This record gives sequence, structure tokens and C-alpha cells, in this order.
Amino acid sequence: QLTILHRLRERAMQGGGPERIAQQHARGKLTARERLALLLDPGSFQEIGALATSMTEDAEQRIPGDGTVTGFGKINGRRVAVYAQDFTVMGGSFSAVQANKICRMQDLAIESGIPIIGLNDSGGARIQEGVRSLAAYGEVFVRNVLASGVVPQISAILGPCAGGAVYSPALTDFVIMSESTGYMFLTGPDVIKAVSGRDISTQELGGAAVHCTRSGVAHLSAADDRTVIELIKRLLSYLPQNNNEDPPQIMPYDRADRQEPILNTLVPTDERQGYDIHTLIDLVFDHDSFLEIQPLFAQNAVVGFARLDGYAVGVVANQPAVMAGALDIDASDKIARFVRICDAFNIPLITFVDTPGFLPGIEQEYGGVIRHGAKIIYAYSEATVPKISIVLRKAIGGAYVAMSSKQLRCDLNFAWPSAQIAVMGAEGAVRILRRDELRAAADPTALMAQFVAEYRRKFFNPYHAADLGQIDEVIEPAETRPRLIRALEILRTKVQQNPPRKHGLYPS
Ligand code: COA
Repeated sequence: QLTILHRLRERAMQGGGPERIAQQHARGKLTARERLALLLDPGSFQEIGALATSMTEDAEQRIPGDGTVTGFGKINGRRVAVYAQDFTVMGGSFSAVQANKICRMQDLAIESGIPIIGLNDSGGARIQEGVRSLAAYGEVFVRNVLASGVVPQISAILGPCAGGAVYSPALTDFVIMSESTGYMFLTGPDVIKAVSGRDISTQELGGAAVHCTRSGVAHLSAADDRTVIELIKRLLSYLPQNNNEDPPQIMPYDRADRQEPILNTLVPTDERQGYDIHTLIDLVFDHDSFLEIQPLFAQNAVVGFARLDGYAVGVVANQPAVMAGALDIDASDKIARFVRICDAFNIPLITFVDTPGFLPGIEQEYGGVIRHGAKIIYAYSEATVPKISIVLRKAIGGAYVAMSSKQLRCDLNFAWPSAQIAVMGAEGAVRILRRDELRAAADPTALMAQFVAEYRRKFFNPYHAADLGQIDEVIEPAETRPRLIRALEILRTKVQQNPPRKHGLYPS
């Protein structure tokens, strides 16, 4: 009896067999089992469904495991649920059996509050199974949605991910692509050629460069299988196991009282000059702890995870070095989504504000910047995690309100002395308020300069806002880190609830 078991197990270990494994390696990819060996702590993998085979009559195609390896394991001692599609078995194509295995794992993971990681490498719906394999996608999608906000879901794209297959990763929280072998698209180069006559490669159409910079479909990328797997582990270290837990705290390794005098001169005196917000992020948070999410997409905003005194936090910032930090459609989507992820997983939010406002422009208006910008307001307003904001320089107009202002239930609002909080820029404001005087003036330019200077004196400082209670405290830039650590400590036990409802209607 044991002989049969050993034979079947051995067969399952080989996937599509030595020849296919060699082909997989020749494509620059690891096999599903090799990937899982790198991802999981040694000896921690509990496989499920290793002996399940496809329902086909064709004995050749009845391979134990059938195109996916699924189960549970540990990463740095913490439980995870995993599936790894096996391209060596019929191109990892998605079958009813594959779906059964993945769904079983998803159900158990949701019930037990365990993060789900999918390693995707598949030729899409198994053509031989027809509608059965399409229905199977639906089974996985619905579980992706039910797991959303309950357990973290991470998708790695390590090979093809085409057609209906793209929607499972798109429904998960993080998509991480291999730059050398991953690609995603709804319709491939052949269809594009037939429809538009245009030649385009798989990478040009749906490679990591496209999805990390232009489409925003992917959130991170790395060179190959190994580096993608390392990135998954790093990302997980900031996330709790589920929505009922806090993220793990690591032993603090950076002084909590560290002051950074360089920050006192970070904001240039010439207000038209930009500066790189990464300088601030690198100096304020625990050394080397910042993991930027979507670093190449909508670079006028910066979001990511970091640590403060060992605690995980979500960082949101305008980037004055790109488009002066103006908010546009993509930046709005990027910020809003990140805020919601942090809120879902109990990760406090720290927001740095320096934005001249929403980007003016016909394309932006036609593209619906209003509904996209509304997402930022919605996300900050609904978030019940601790929220702290610091206005560094410009916080103008609607963008001031949107970027974690006090009225959106931000807990502690700080400002640097360089903060400028106003309804609009000085020139624009003066042109409206002093129109008649400027028209009548003998020397309008000189008068304009005088009015602008007056306006600046009045509004371009944080003291007016502090006076009105909109800013809780004006702080010296050098002391930003200790201030944030103290503020977080106060808010650590914050409890806030939203009114009961089925779900809100998020602007999209
Ligand atoms: N259903 C069944 N078998 C599939 C499959 C699918 N969707 N996708 C790939 N395979 C099989 C191939 O027939 C091939 O089998 P063989 O070696 O026995 O001939 C094996 O998997 C490897 O595929 P191959 O085409 O040699 O790999 P590639 O790296 O050159 O190309 C793809 C990969 C994904 C681009 C290509 O296989 C493809 O176009 N597949 C179909 C994609 C699709 O349209 N899917 C449906 C969308 S939902």
C-alpha cells in the first residue's frame, strides 16, 4: 500500500516531468516547488491536494497535482496560505481541479485569518475544459473578494497571466511582477495584431515596466523569481495576519529621540523650488525601513510602509520634486487605495503635505479628476486607524482638506514653520480680491507685488491655522521623528467606529 502512496507522491513532485522542468529553467523561471521552497521556512509546507488530478479521460494529462501546488506554510515563523501555478503541467493552465485546490486553501485561510500568496504562471483558462475552467475562475474571484480586507492577499506574476486570469491578481491587495518573465494582459499580441494591425511584444504590452509605471496594475517589481520572493517576504513583515490583528512590532533598532537638523533646511526658501520627499522619509523613519509601494507610478505622490520605533506605519506624501506635488487622477487613486489598505489592516497613517492643489487641466477634468480626487477624501474620512499629518509647505485649497485635514478625522495635525495653508495661491487670490484696485492703479505691477506680499504674510504661515485649531502644533522640522513617535504612542489604543451599514459607496 505504501508503495502506491510513494509512487503517487513521487509523481506529484515531478510536475510535468524532467523535460518540462528543463524548459521552465531555460525560460529563466523556477518551478512551482522550487519557488515555494524559497518562499517558505524549511520543513513548514503542508500541501493540500497533491494527488488531485484533472477529470480528463486522457491518462497523459492526469498528472497528480494538476497545474498548481497549494497548501500552507510559514514565512519567518508566521503562517501563510499559498498556491503556485505549475507551468510544467499543461502550461499551468487553469482547470476545475486547480480551482478546487485554490478555493479550498482560500476558504481555510479566510476562516483562520491567514494571508494568501499566489504565485502566478499560467497560460490561462484550460482550453480543453471550456466553460468549466471559466466558471472555475469565478469561484476563485468570489473568494478573492470575500478575503479582501480580511486577510492580506499578495499576487506574484512570474510568467504569463492572460485573459480572465488577470482578475484574480487585480482583486488582491498587492501585485508584484517579475521584470524578466512576468506579463499580464487581457488580450494578447495576436489579438492586438488582428484588431489593430500593430505588432507589439508581450513585454511591451503587459510587462512589469508597463504595469508599474503606466497602468498602475502592479505595485512592485523585481528582477526575477528569487528577488520577487524576497520582496513578498519583506512586504509581509509590515502586515498583520488579518484584520483582527495589529501588524507585528519588531525590536526597535533606531533611537527614538533622534533629531535631524538637516530637516530644518530641507524646504528651499524659494517656494518654486522642489525637493525630494524621500530625503525626509529616509531621515524620519527607522533606518532603511521604507518600502515604497508603486514607486514608479504617479511619482507626484509617494506611498509606502515604514517603521517608527519598530512599529509598522503607512506613509503618504506629496512629492514636491515631481509636478510640484500636484494631485492628479493617478496620484489620487494611488493615495486612496493605499490609505484603505492601511485602514483595513490596522496600520497607522502618517501624511506629509506639500501640494499646490489638484492639477488644473482639461484632460484631468475630462478624465474625472473630481471623482478620483474624491477617493482621497473618502479614504481618509472612513479610516479609523491612528492618523497624523504634517504640513511641510503648501496645503492649498481642496487639496488641503483632502490630505488628512483635521475635519477628515485626522487625530493630530502638525505643521512645520514653512507651512502655507490657504484657499489659493497668492497671485490668484490677489487678482480676485483686489481686482478693482489693480485695474485703477497707475502701476499695477508694483501694487500687485505689494498685495501678494500682504497675502503671504497673512496666510502663508501655519500660525493662522494653529490659531484656529486646525493645526495642533507647529513643530521644528529637526524634531519630526521624536514628535511622531510620541504622537503614535498616544494613539496606539485609539478606538473609533463608523456607523453600521452594508457598505459605503466609494467614488470610483
Ligand atoms: N490551455 C491548455 N493548455 C495550454 C494553455 C491553455 N490555456 N496554455 C498553454 N498550454 C499548454 C501549451 O499547449 C503547451 O503544451 P505542449 O507543450 O504540450 O504543446 C504548454 O502549455 C506550454 O505552452 P507554450 O505555448 O509552449 O508556452 P509559451 O511560453 O511559448 O507560451 C502562452 C505561453 C501563455 C503565451 C501560450 O501558451 C498561450 O498563448 N496560451 C493560451 C493563452 C490563452 O489565450 N488562454 C486563454 C485565456 S483565458
